[in-house]
Amino acid sequence: PQYKEISSPTTSVGASLKENKFKKVEHAHPMLSLANSYNIGEIVDFIERIKKRIPKEQELKYCLEVKLDGLSISLTYRQGKLVRAVTRGDGLIGEDVTENILEIASIVKTLPQDIDMEIRGEVVLPLANFEKLNNERLEKGEELFANPRNAASGTLRQLDSKIVKERGLDAYFYFLVEADKLGLKSHSESIKFLESMGIKTTGIFELLETSKEIEKRIDYWEKERENLPYETDGLVIKVDEINLWNEIGYTSKTPRWAIAYKFPAHQVSTILNDVTWQVGRTGKLTPVAELEEVELSGSKVKRASLHNISEIQRKDIRIGDRVFIEKAAEIIPQVVKSIKEDRTGNEKIIEEPVNCPVCNHKLEREEGLVDIKCVNEECPAKVQGEIEYFVSRDALNIEGLGDKVVATLYEQGIISHTIDLFSLEREKLIDLDRMGEKSVDNLLTAIENSKNSTLDKVIYALGILNVGKKAAKILAEKYLNLTTLMTAT
Ligand code: IVH
Repeated sequence: PQYKEISSPTTSVGASLKENKFKKVEHAHPMLSLANSYNIGEIVDFIERIKKRIPKEQELKYCLEVKLDGLSISLTYRQGKLVRAVTRGDGLIGEDVTENILEIASIVKTLPQDIDMEIRGEVVLPLANFEKLNNERLEKGEELFANPRNAASGTLRQLDSKIVKERGLDAYFYFLVEADKLGLKSHSESIKFLESMGIKTTGIFELLETSKEIEKRIDYWEKERENLPYETDGLVIKVDEINLWNEIGYTSKTPRWAIAYKFPAHQVSTILNDVTWQVGRTGKLTPVAELEEVELSGSKVKRASLHNISEIQRKDIRIGDRVFIEKAAEIIPQVVKSIKEDRTGNEKIIEEPVNCPVCNHKLEREEGLVDIKCVNEECPAKVQGEIEYFVSRDALNIEGLGDKVVATLYEQGIISHTIDLFSLEREKLIDLDRMGEKSVDNLLTAIENSKNSTLDKVIYALGILNVGKKAAKILAEKYLNLTTLMTAT
């Protein structure tokens, strides 16, 4: 037992001990939060308040760094070994997420020195991984994560640690607890020390002396943050000299020697030209704003989400309105509000559709629910959505059947239901445009192989309302085959 190491692969092989996940743990040092500021004036005030609390002749340096928008985490090392990772929780008691943190590739499990230390940082889902994850969810008809922060939080709380690795969670560190006890005199030195231990940081720690300098760097980072691989919601400014921290002091929740500066949200205004209604796999209609093209956070935008009809009514958004659109972290921009003062009187109220825009069938709305639905089982939009879902990665995982191929097969009348995939004729496929012999054979093999899918994937692939991956697993384990499942009461 004396040789057991928490970072040993044997701790993460096999099934996990679910009951032991996320045990509540008290922090040895409370995890503080930061006071917020929104303009340079508030930072000037912050500096003034600090100067009142320290001797006049004292020189000060400020360390400016990016504020990562993720989840705070505290790691404890004992004799150079990572022994525990705990979430912030309420600042006093957090949850033990060690098993999941160990799946983050950049996490240092063994330090180059046998020291004890506690470090703090932020768990994030890098933007590229976030977009990939949401695109996959979009394809599968699963609910999207609103932003990388939510995605990181959802991922860190997964009972199955493998998902942490799969989705590519990462972590950056920005604080060494009791750095002075390790002989370090400044925050910037403590960061260099962490880096020398191999710990991942953002590398952005700028030493500044005046509020003028701080203001310049705020302007710089306001634009430059677009080019960072992770989401930031602001900057953090910390007094660099550690020996002054106690003198400057703390409130019950925040240090007085540090402050967060929050970036304004990314918003631009444009004209709402029209609203179209998209029909999803379940028949649900989603209003889409068709916009005069604008640039937003570095990309060109001409469509945005309007969520649902009651949101449109609540915000009183009309066709022809000048609207603000926002892309905080979401991949799909949202319409935030309309500018009522700019109305000319020619704006048109957005009407709830009566008939399906795809099949013209009469639409229905469930009692008390906001969603309008096309209930026609044969609606082409629904059928194509069902097929796309059926073949998607978490379902039967049939490669070579992307949305475009599904649309072609459907439009050409080669398939009209999911089941038709299993009686495809090679000759008909080869006749299709852009389908070479090789890709046809690959597709047919992939379809053949999908017959070996596990029961849970088959259940999931059926796209039953409220039966996602997890419910499908539970049903498969309980009922063992489709026949018993279908006769279940
Ligand atoms: S310092 C006493 N530095 O922002 C030290 N926090 O709004 C307190 N955060 O709870 C934290 N980037 O989760 C610090 N460079 C950074 C940060 C940072 C993100 C988070 C952290 C904190 C929250 C406060």
